[in-house]
Amino acid sequence: MTTVLERIGTMGVVPVVVLDDVAQATPLGDALVAGGLPCAEVTFRTAAGEAALEALAGRGDLLVGAGTVLTAAQVDRAVDAGAAFIVSPGLSAEVVRRAQERGVIALPGTATASEVQAAVNLGLEAVKLFPARVLGGTDLIDALSGPFPGMRFMPSGGVTLATAGDYLRHPAVLAVGGSWMVPRARIAAGDFDAIRALTEETVSALARGPQ
Ligand code: 3PG
Repeated sequence: MTTVLERIGTMGVVPVVVLDDVAQATPLGDALVAGGLPCAEVTFRTAAGEAALEALAGRGDLLVGAGTVLTAAQVDRAVDAGAAFIVSPGLSAEVVRRAQERGVIALPGTATASEVQAAVNLGLEAVKLFPARVLGGTDLIDALSGPFPGMRFMPSGGVTLATAGDYLRHPAVLAVGGSWMVPRARIAAGDFDAIRALTEETVSALARGPQ
């Protein structure tokens, strides 16, 4: 059986979605599926995030996770809403352990060797690297891969269509996260044709897509 981590790796790109209105979930999901990237990290940054995650996960045609998960209580809410993976901006052992207890993948944010080491000690095989661009991008991944050869990274934060390919060519990169194909302003404007087009452009440029 294909694991969630393998599915994320096959996808290559995880759209980081900020939804202000639960009514945006269905057209957004349609645009991502039509564009060839049936995956979403739905952030818990907005009041609509949890209900939007539930709507997207309930469709069954997207791999859906929760982003910006800061507490164990939010892990429970995200998993109850259907999240298959949990992403955080930083590393919290409490959040990781609750995700493990609930049987979902945790991808905590790391920015330093200490945080990657903490992730190893929590039994993780993959972490988010955040905010990837300002931390040094692939140079930082090169540096961290020395002491942590088994770790896979999901860089996110400032990744663009222009830079995603460099990350994805790095052997330690599982996938990249980013919002460039799902701009919040386009979602708010209801411009889902643009989101489908940006998604298609992403899939064709990066030569990875759904499994
Ligand atoms: C994240 O949480 O990973 C980031 O907010 C996504 O970063 P981006 O908007 O710069 O792509």
